[in-house]
Amino acid sequence: GYSTPSGTTYNAYLINDTRPTLIDTVKEEFFSEMLERIREVMDPAGIVSIISNHTEMDHSGSIRKMLEVCPKAEVICSPKGAEGLLRHFKKTWNLRVVKTGDVLDTGGRPLQFVLMPMVHWPDSMATYAPNDHILFSNDAFGQHHASHERFADEINLSMIYREAAKYYGNIVMPYGKQVQAVLKSVATLPIDQIFPSHGLMWRRTEDIQKIVALYDGWSRHQTQKKVVIVFDSMWHSTERMAERLCQSFKDARIPVVFLPLQHTHISDVVTEILEARLVLFGTPILNNRMLPSMAALMMYLKGLKPTGRLAFTFGSYGWSLVGFKELENSVIEAGFTLAAEGRYINYVPDEVEWEQLSQDVAG
Ligand code: FEO
Repeated sequence: GYSTPSGTTYNAYLINDTRPTLIDTVKEEFFSEMLERIREVMDPAGIVSIISNHTEMDHSGSIRKMLEVCPKAEVICSPKGAEGLLRHFKKTWNLRVVKTGDVLDTGGRPLQFVLMPMVHWPDSMATYAPNDHILFSNDAFGQHHASHERFADEINLSMIYREAAKYYGNIVMPYGKQVQAVLKSVATLPIDQIFPSHGLMWRRTEDIQKIVALYDGWSRHQTQKKVVIVFDSMWHSTERMAERLCQSFKDARIPVVFLPLQHTHISDVVTEILEARLVLFGTPILNNRMLPSMAALMMYLKGLKPTGRLAFTFGSYGWSLVGFKELENSVIEAGFTLAAEGRYINYVPDEVEWEQLSQDVAG
């Protein structure tokens, strides 16, 4: 359900201390690449601890192969991580189950754990390095972007913030309350750098403050004066309605984003919805239903639950309005509040109906 046009990275971190420790691994198919990189700095057989911050296979997928290289290493994980690793690998490894505040001795640099249940799996946790004030945040604060640069401030920051928003909207959005709890517990830690498990790392104070503030706002479902119009069309009537609505918002100098579903991936729709106060959903009726493209978006949004936003529905129909009821119910189930009655037009809009659309926007 998520497009990654600029790629991604799986970030594993090696603490090359007297008790070498690997924080997370990578997808299994990238195991050899990770192993070669570890070999550049140390013999991987010397690793004594592998921290599994998150069971999902993009981070734990190489633990099994890694343990063939360093069979005596202990695997450190949360209580739910222990359950998840067992279900994924069916192996009883040398596990050490930790909770918030537990400390791992790596030699000179102790590591501390912070459980982050449901950000975004029950097993998720972060690892904190108190000596260096680094938070290894796993999926939190990540972005799907691959680059030679390591730090967010080394490349186009606005693009990275956009990728971070896409990441939050599509992966973390359903767990706003849990994000709030995590923000509260990490607020007590001095943090100079955030090293996520995807994308670029954050090291400048202003960037750390900004990404944390963004997470705070997103997790509270704070929105801006921004409208999103997302629609699909069959014979252009719904498309023309969408264009008319869009022009009316532009005339009123209200920021509006126009998203035809035929040319927009649903994960990019969610990125735009993240900070939008009002979302307009348009579809024609096909076989008494909304179009399948709109149904797919609705199913996706019902899971992500973008609550606290307003919605308006519109579209063209031939002989039955029943599909619009299904659309309205889906919009409500996804967490939106209907701002007004939907505007549904028989076949092709006439002049009066055109004018009515502009009045709808004024209202
Ligand atoms: Fe990057 Fe939830 O895995």
